[in-house]
Amino acid sequence: MKFDAGKAGLTVGVIGAGAMGQGIVQVSLQGEMKVVLYDAKDGAAAAGKEQVVKRLERLVEKGKLSADAVAAMAARVTVASSLAEFRDCACVVEAIFENLEVKQQVFSELEEHVAEDCLLTSNTSSLPIGSIARVCKHPERVAGFHFFNPVPLMRLVEVIRGPGTEEWVMDGLCALGERMGRTPVKVKDAPGFLVNFGGRAFTTEGLAVVHEGVATPAEVDAVMRDCGHFRMGPFQLMDLTGIDVNYPVSLIVHEQYSYDPRLRTVPLHKALYDAGRFGRKTGIGHFRYDEKGQEVNPPSPDHETAAAPAVQVYVAAEAPELADLLAGVALDETDDGSSPIVAALFGEDCATFASRMGIDHTRLVAIDVTGDTSKRVTIMSAPGASEDARDAVSAALQKNGRKVTAIRDSAGFIAQRIRGMVGNLGCEMAQIGIADPDSIDLAMKLGLNYPLGPLEIISDLGVERAFAIMAAMHAVSGDDRYRPSLWLRRRAQLGLDIKTPN
Ligand code: NAI
Repeated sequence: MKFDAGKAGLTVGVIGAGAMGQGIVQVSLQGEMKVVLYDAKDGAAAAGKEQVVKRLERLVEKGKLSADAVAAMAARVTVASSLAEFRDCACVVEAIFENLEVKQQVFSELEEHVAEDCLLTSNTSSLPIGSIARVCKHPERVAGFHFFNPVPLMRLVEVIRGPGTEEWVMDGLCALGERMGRTPVKVKDAPGFLVNFGGRAFTTEGLAVVHEGVATPAEVDAVMRDCGHFRMGPFQLMDLTGIDVNYPVSLIVHEQYSYDPRLRTVPLHKALYDAGRFGRKTGIGHFRYDEKGQEVNPPSPDHETAAAPAVQVYVAAEAPELADLLAGVALDETDDGSSPIVAALFGEDCATFASRMGIDHTRLVAIDVTGDTSKRVTIMSAPGASEDARDAVSAALQKNGRKVTAIRDSAGFIAQRIRGMVGNLGCEMAQIGIADPDSIDLAMKLGLNYPLGPLEIISDLGVERAFAIMAAMHAVSGDDRYRPSLWLRRRAQLGLDIKTPN
């Protein structure tokens, strides 16, 4: 066997003692390995080692490790003064600045010192592995080993197959990742790899909803939390990671996917970036924060009304969920010409539905019955609609114990759009072979804390319904951003499970 991840005393080399390098050192030590650590900056490797030991000592205070174990771990780290000290490494992880020329230089030099079967890996988050491997004499042992920040807390590691990477290297890195206590996922060498590509849909579709004037950031976030079960809404998330980080990543991934409109962001994203409104770290982004990072005067996402609840409505588009949501309201099958008209819509906007059905758009109130509607329900009206009809339906939903978010006309409600786009991009990842369907779901849940993976979201919506939502959004908007992935289209057409392989 060329590489044995289980070998006692296995030595891992780490280049770069910054945030990521330190995390990789820590998990290697916790996996009972020896580490050689090098940093080009004088004293940085020694300081990095000290930081790691400090973090391990905190685990002693919490009773998770013994002081003896930490002393033994510290003794297993060698601070190297040059790459020549990497000669006994079975695997090297590079975690230096994100600069291709510098990384290429480091890999070329490294190959002069290590054994022929030593695995050479990069923790790069945006550079193609192929562009690093091209300068190596043995590109077959070069791969991506992409950890997430903070490494000890984030279980996921993407193992990225470069154009020449051999399978024993991929398998060896997966085993090594497991020994480090991580959950490895094999991923294709493609822009943003898996998580940084798949994660685009959630934020950029949230931005698209706001850009169109459909809803406010606070409304989008509340719906995605309450109805989609995301821990944070897209705007909270952007403010937390920092718009200085997520705007450039959005641009890079969009460009590298040949400007696929699915990945397009909106001018508001750039405007915040240009204005230095990066989110929590600058006190203002989509929302405002005080010095402690607490949101100041958070805007309400709830529709308030003093109107009397509707007592009867005409149901123009039926869904079984309406009976519960509108319990106590008479659901008529014919239009009396004055009651509100309600419709459960899927991907269609009120204007298109009203004109297609020849119904009075002024009394139309569309209701989103997808996702979890036990706490919050989204309703939508056409331009020129009557506030009376909207308020009466809203009051009836509120009387039945739900909060209501009332939005402007939109092809797909907030949750249909964002969950549809996340799911559709997951389908596209499966179609183009970024990873297998189970790995896509696992990586998105571990890497981004999603409540469900993208393909699981499609199953949750129902494959045919998810396809119908995307197809309607595409038809109404005329925007190829919403074109259904062929992966989704074929499985909906054939009535197949969304994870059915090609
Ligand atoms: P950092 O700036 O904290 O640390 C980089 C370290 O590399 C510095 O200590 C620097 O002195 C050292 N260095 C620079 N050139 C060197 C060279 N030629 N030889 C040896 N050492 C050198 O950076 P960070 O955040 O740890 O990122 C490192 C890599 O990990 C980058 O490729 C980044 O894209 C990637 N990454 C970063 C994540 C993050 O959230 N920070 C997440 C996932 C990947």
